[in-house]
Amino acid sequence: MAKKIDLLICNSSNLVTLSCNGKPKAGKELQDLSIIKNGAVAVQNGLILETGTTRDLLKKYKNAKNIVDAENCLVMPGFVDCHTHTVFAGTREYELGMKISGATYLDILKAGGGIYSTVNASKESTKSELTKLAAERLDSMLQHGTTTVEIKSGYGLDYDTEKKILKVIRLLKKTHPVEIVSTYLGAHTIPKETSREDYVEMMLNKALPDFKHLAEYCDIFTEEGAFNIEETERILKRAKALGYKLKIHAGQFNDLGAAGLASRLGAVSADHLEFVSLEELNIMKKHGTAAVLMPGVPFFLMNGKYPDARQMITNGNIVALSTDFNPGSCPTYSMQMVIALACYQMKMSPEEAITASIANAAYAVDRLATIGSLEDGKKADILVMKISEPSHIPYYFGANLVSKTFKSGKLAAKF
Ligand code: NIG
Ligand code: FE
Repeated sequence: MAKKIDLLICNSSNLVTLSCNGKPKAGKELQDLSIIKNGAVAVQNGLILETGTTRDLLKKYKNAKNIVDAENCLVMPGFVDCHTHTVFAGTREYELGMKISGATYLDILKAGGGIYSTVNASKESTKSELTKLAAERLDSMLQHGTTTVEIKSGYGLDYDTEKKILKVIRLLKKTHPVEIVSTYLGAHTIPKETSREDYVEMMLNKALPDFKHLAEYCDIFTEEGAFNIEETERILKRAKALGYKLKIHAGQFNDLGAAGLASRLGAVSADHLEFVSLEELNIMKKHGTAAVLMPGVPFFLMNGKYPDARQMITNGNIVALSTDFNPGSCPTYSMQMVIALACYQMKMSPEEAITASIANAAYAVDRLATIGSLEDGKKADILVMKISEPSHIPYYFGANLVSKTFKSGKLAAKF
């Protein structure tokens, strides 16, 4: 007798499974989307029960409680946005005029703008104001097909405001349908009110131990005008000893050696990497540290400096993609747009960019065992798209091509 399962999504043109057996993809493997032609996916209790052809699964599960006809459209796993700064107040659209006049990101930061302006607005906002703003942003991300989002603190730059932001992230984790990974980025830049020495000591001795229950990861912006490599090493080592997993903002404008340092300490990912040496890429490869690339950032900052994705793929690094959603260097909700930029600005193929946005991005938040592909037992994070081919994602750039987003088998957005 046919089993009465919760959900069957059938009649896809192509079912992108991204099957990976728990391992991230590198080199030529990035090309392999593991497609089932005219595929279907069966869901029970929020998890994937089985994938197969529509013919086989319709026969087996014709009594499913809910049958969704994909009408010959592409079905694929949800995007994993593995690097964002989603909790903040205020906007920074006025920086465009400065950028057009030739000011760089670091010029704006040094002049007391940039991150500082977002910090001021976030300090003045209440927990509930920040929660409402962030929840609306997460709604938009779900509408654009993102089912898991890593969120960093970092717009507090003092103990209390960072704690407030981490609590907002915790509340969203409990209340919002999107899946959230939480990161403490107290080391986002040097606060105005404190000396850098005092701020680093405060993070080492007070914030890091106190926030352990609020954040899974510790991240640092290692850059001229932010934290130097010695401070980075102290903070990462302390965080590691306290049991945090590690991430790093490395080589966005200058290569200070942070990607190599963080990888040696076992960082799960090193992010940005516009400037990184081959030696560091080799250390990352050796330690299995993902290279998270965010081409929306050079696009929005108009500096024309994109990471060398081709070099990293040829070198065998685990390349992932992300938006870096934040108010100053990339306010986009769209992983589809990131895929287009990865193709047109970094010469990644559509298949490579899709793999990097889902399976490898899941690896970059240490979640590949439960998300990042349509494989039996994983969470049923599934997109029905308004296109038939994977390559249509970058082709129709700038459009939201999502028709339905399912998070853990539940319909979370539809158009
Ligand atoms: O990842 N580079 C540092 N942090 C963010 C930007 C934050 C901001 O400008 O508000 C980034 O690009
Ligand atoms: Fe960032």
